[in-house]
Amino acid sequence: MAFDIDMIKEVYSQMAERVDKARELVGKPLTLSEKILYSHLWDGTPNKSFERGKDYVDFAPDRIACQDATAQMALLQFMQAGKKTVAVPTTVHCDHLIQAKQGAAKDLMRANETSNEVFDFLESVSNKYGIGFWRPGAGIIHQVVLENYAFPGGMMIGTDSHTVNAGGLGMVAIGVGGADAVDVMAGMPWELKFPKLIGVKLTGKLNGWTASKDVILKVAGILTVKGGTGAIVEYFGPGAKNLSCTGKGTICNMGAEIGATTSTFGYDDSMERFLRATDRHEIADEANKIREYLTGDDEVYENPEKYFDQVIEIDLSTLRPHLNGPFTPDLATEVGDLGEKARKNDWPLKVDWGLIGSCTNSSYEDLSRAASIAQQAIDKNLKSKSDFGINPGSEQIRFTAERDGLLDVFENLGATIFTNACGPCIGQWDRSDRKGDEKNTIVHSFNRNFSKRADGNPNTHAFVGSPEMVAAIAISGRLDFDPMNDTLINEDGQEVKLDEPVGLELPPKGFAVDDNGYLAPTADGSAVEVKVAPDSERLQLLEPFVPIKDSELQGVKLLIKAFGKCTTDHISMAGPWLRYRGHLDNIANNTLIGAVNAFNKQTNFVKNQLTGEYGGVPNVQREYKANGIKTIVVGDHNYGEGSSREHAAMQPRFLGVAAVLVKSFARIHETNLKKQGMLGLTFANEADYDLIQEDDTFNFVDIADFAPNKPLTIEIVHADGSKDTIKANHTYNDAQIKWYHEGSALNLIKKQNA
Ligand code: F3S
Repeated sequence: MAFDIDMIKEVYSQMAERVDKARELVGKPLTLSEKILYSHLWDGTPNKSFERGKDYVDFAPDRIACQDATAQMALLQFMQAGKKTVAVPTTVHCDHLIQAKQGAAKDLMRANETSNEVFDFLESVSNKYGIGFWRPGAGIIHQVVLENYAFPGGMMIGTDSHTVNAGGLGMVAIGVGGADAVDVMAGMPWELKFPKLIGVKLTGKLNGWTASKDVILKVAGILTVKGGTGAIVEYFGPGAKNLSCTGKGTICNMGAEIGATTSTFGYDDSMERFLRATDRHEIADEANKIREYLTGDDEVYENPEKYFDQVIEIDLSTLRPHLNGPFTPDLATEVGDLGEKARKNDWPLKVDWGLIGSCTNSSYEDLSRAASIAQQAIDKNLKSKSDFGINPGSEQIRFTAERDGLLDVFENLGATIFTNACGPCIGQWDRSDRKGDEKNTIVHSFNRNFSKRADGNPNTHAFVGSPEMVAAIAISGRLDFDPMNDTLINEDGQEVKLDEPVGLELPPKGFAVDDNGYLAPTADGSAVEVKVAPDSERLQLLEPFVPIKDSELQGVKLLIKAFGKCTTDHISMAGPWLRYRGHLDNIANNTLIGAVNAFNKQTNFVKNQLTGEYGGVPNVQREYKANGIKTIVVGDHNYGEGSSREHAAMQPRFLGVAAVLVKSFARIHETNLKKQGMLGLTFANEADYDLIQEDDTFNFVDIADFAPNKPLTIEIVHADGSKDTIKANHTYNDAQIKWYHEGSALNLIKKQNA
């Protein structure tokens, strides 16, 4: 059995004491989110209350999940920690690297050929370090987690933003960068700013064409893509109890699209039903014993305004189906209003593809409701006007849906069944009908619809809806089709109307699967060899970073003075570079190529002080490195915002950048720099940014006295020999200064484990 019942029993055994203590400290009734947070403190039983949106708190998550793209660098780093096994139950899921093209069998075979070395590496490294491994084709990380690992009241982190999906089973589940996951794997705490809390009260009951998806499409319209930032969204109320567990998962999943830290629901009968249907009776039995601790206190839900930072109320009975888009998931439109809006905005009305699946909407309920629409089309002699593609969420779902005839229904309508994997949702889609940048429309049941997301075409207008609505729109081939009011003309020239979708929350004959694609790690992995070919282009074992000597911080050269926004995308671009995510040397060739040089406003064009010539940032930096010269990167405000990818710190470090000096940092990036043993500094006086000139050399005059709360002094020597001396602030504490002195946080862990 994949899940760890002993671990869950331990979590539950501590919950009552910890929650009761927290309630006493906070001095008021608690939300579910607070109960889970306070029962997962790194220090155990709470001894103080935390200020939401302000205090940074160390947590002890119960689980970790990684997907194949992000797991590569995370596990290469973990190997540096010198541990025998991961400290916390961890799984790796191969789902991002499988391209959708001809259908599951052929696509999977091709992926196994093209990404063979990555899968082999992930399988071997998982086996060595006690990590559960889900093979390519086993399913999409979040669906597999929901079916196998998520449990009410638990806390997990995952190296993917839609880790939040597990909130559907009452978890606090949060997407993190690889560096955070590595810390927890290595036995360190995980730090998070204590989130703010948004309450969403659901009343009524879904009916007709409205689905769980429409709840989050509506919430996204209200809160927008930034409205949930720094907050946990907690759903409650009688309407919440009327939703299926997987429907709750859909709602939590798309919490990522409003920027929420995560979303969650209190434990209820739908969760118990799902746990039992997925053969986790023991968890359900244990959860039932502490039911009141796995949901918010009654008083909180009765008077939510008193306990949440913001409250939204949605009546499910009157909620109407939505299609959100194009290009952003918060552009919410009720289905009946979309035609007019599309005409006004010149969005193509013809729909070319309907795509169902992804981690957001690939449950049995989703497929059965969409299949009920597809079956009607067949019965009413309609032909689908758009192409259809289906990505089941897991092999368990696929096997069960095939057994129950659901996949046949889609295939009879001409659909292609793609692999149980992300496919078009992550741009892994070799779309047969489009080339170039022709304007066109697709509808899908995924979560993200940013420009180029599905097929790389900036002019593909993607709209997000429920699976059943996607099915109806795809069959009609029209974006302005409203199945609640409009009719269609069938192959016999007759006018027909689609009836409301019907579906089943769970398979009546139970879930079934032949081979779920899971490989348990061996009990003792010490003899297992991690597979990385020495000549691999995509994978490279890491060497520990060498500590920066004080003497190297004299005569430091300016690599680039970045102008304006410099996000982690500018520092380490995605797109085609994703291929090299597991190969630090190769991916380092994109270092800072998106940053704008303040002196000439060009990207990837900086002065090489050794030759006086201009060149690309990585090339110039490699020349400094070859000459044993350390460099500094200077930046503006909020340097390193964006994704939490650790590559943005590892690459400069690998290439020999010693310090990053900016007006302000995005906090996660600042921490990542510290973890990699670099100096992340801010100007004590912001105006000093203007003193930096293109040919400057920097001397860190008091680096030998590097200590907490003590600014560093930097002497800037200009080309004409003149000098400026400035102060640079830092936020390193004692432990982080040790990371710096050891060369990286992982070096320190390794030393402590030796
Ligand atoms: Fe995969 Fe798309 Fe979900 S990329 S993990 S299916 S958001």
